[in-house]
Amino acid sequence: MNSLQRIPPAPREQVPVAAQLAEDYTLKLKDILTDGLLSLHIHLGIELGLFTKLGDFECAGATSAELAASLGLNERMTREWLHAMVCGRLVSHRRGGEADEVRYFLAEGQKQVMTGTDCGPANILAAFTYLPRFYCLKDRLANTFRTGVGPCYDTYGRQVACGIKSFFAPWFRQSLPSLIESVDGLKDRLDKGAKVADVGCGAGEALCVMASRYPNSTFDGYDTSQEALKVASETKALWGLKDHVAFKDATVERLPLEPTYDLICTFDCVHDMTFPSEVIKAIRNALKPDGVWLISDLQGASHAADNYTHPQGAMLYSFSVALCLQAAMSEEGGEALGTLGFHQAKAESMARAAGFGHFEVLPFEHPLNSYYLVKINK
Ligand SMILES: C[S@@+](CC[C@H](N)C(=O)[O-])C[C@H]1O[C@@H](n2cnc3c(N)ncnc32)[C@H](O)[C@@H]1O
Repeated sequence: MNSLQRIPPAPREQVPVAAQLAEDYTLKLKDILTDGLLSLHIHLGIELGLFTKLGDFECAGATSAELAASLGLNERMTREWLHAMVCGRLVSHRRGGEADEVRYFLAEGQKQVMTGTDCGPANILAAFTYLPRFYCLKDRLANTFRTGVGPCYDTYGRQVACGIKSFFAPWFRQSLPSLIESVDGLKDRLDKGAKVADVGCGAGEALCVMASRYPNSTFDGYDTSQEALKVASETKALWGLKDHVAFKDATVERLPLEPTYDLICTFDCVHDMTFPSEVIKAIRNALKPDGVWLISDLQGASHAADNYTHPQGAMLYSFSVALCLQAAMSEEGGEALGTLGFHQAKAESMARAAGFGHFEVLPFEHPLNSYYLVKINK
C-alpha cells in the first residue's frame, strides 16, 4: 500500500468547493460513459435478437447457455452481455438452486420497453437501432461545423429511415385517428373521399395508418429521401394498400401549384427541411381554399435559453447536432431550424408569412410534440 492509499478521504463538507464540483462532474461524466457504452450494447441486443428471445422465455427466463444456444450465439460473449445488461438494470436475473444457477429474464415493464412492444407514444428503443450511424458519420458531422453544409437524410441510410418509422409508429397507430377526429368535419370529409398529402412522409407509416382507415380518400406521400421512399413502398405493401396510396420523390415531383388537397400533413419534419419557408408556401398553394394543414412538431420555447430547462432538452439538442440540424443545413443557405426550431411561435409566424390566416394549437397531449391546425382563411 502506498502513502496516498493510507490517507482516509476527507469528509465531504471539508472538501474545497471547486474539488467537490469537479468530483460531481466526474461522476456525471462516468454516468454518461456508462450509458454510452450501454447504448451500444442495447443496439447489439436488438440486432442479435437477444431482447426478443429473452422475452420469449417469459418469467422462467434462460441461462446464458440456453439464450446463446437458442440464437446460435457464442455463450461466453452472451454471458458478458447479460452481465452488462443486469448491472445496467435493463435485464433481470434470478439466482438459486443446487447448481447456484443464474437465470435471466425480462421483468414486467422491461419486456414491453426492451422488445419495443406496448412502449407508449414513442418507441424509444427504435432510436438505438440507428444510434451507431451517428458515430460512423462523425467525421462528416464534424465537417459541418467547418463548412456550414451538412449531410442530407440519405447519407444516414436505411437504418435511420426504418428507425424513425418505428420510433413514431406507436403514436400514429394509437392516436392519429383521434387527432383527425378532433378537427371539426375532417373525419367526415375523409370518410366521403378527400385528397390528402403527407409532406416529409418518411417511411410512410402515418400515410398508411390514414389510408387504411379512410379507403375512399387518396393519399400522396412526398419525401426527398430515396431511402425513406424505398421503406415507404415496403410499408405500403405491409399494410396491403394499393391504388389510393402513392409515394412521390419530392426532389423531382413538387407539390401541385394549384389548390388540390383537402388535408396536408407535416409530421415532425419541417424542422429538418433546408428551405421550410418555400415548402410552406408550396403547401399554401397546394391546399384547397377550405383545406387544412395539420402540423406536429417538437415542443420548444421561442428563446433557446428557455429550453435549457426542457426535461428532454439534452436529448433533443443532441439529436439536432447529430441529425436534424445537419439535414436542415444540407444545402448552402439552408434555413437551419433544427430539432427545436419549429416551435409554436415560429410555426405561426412562418404560416402567416406564407399567407395562412388561421393558426390554432390543438389540445392534444404528447410528451414531445405540439399539434397545430392551420387554414387559409381566418
Ligand atoms: C424526422 S423524419 C419524419 C418522417 C415522418 N413524417 C414521420 O413522422 O415518421 C423527416 C423527414 O422529412 C424529410 N424531408 C426533409 N426535407 C424535405 C422536403 N423538403 N420535402 C419533403 N421531405 C423532406 C426527410 O427526408 C425525412 O424523411
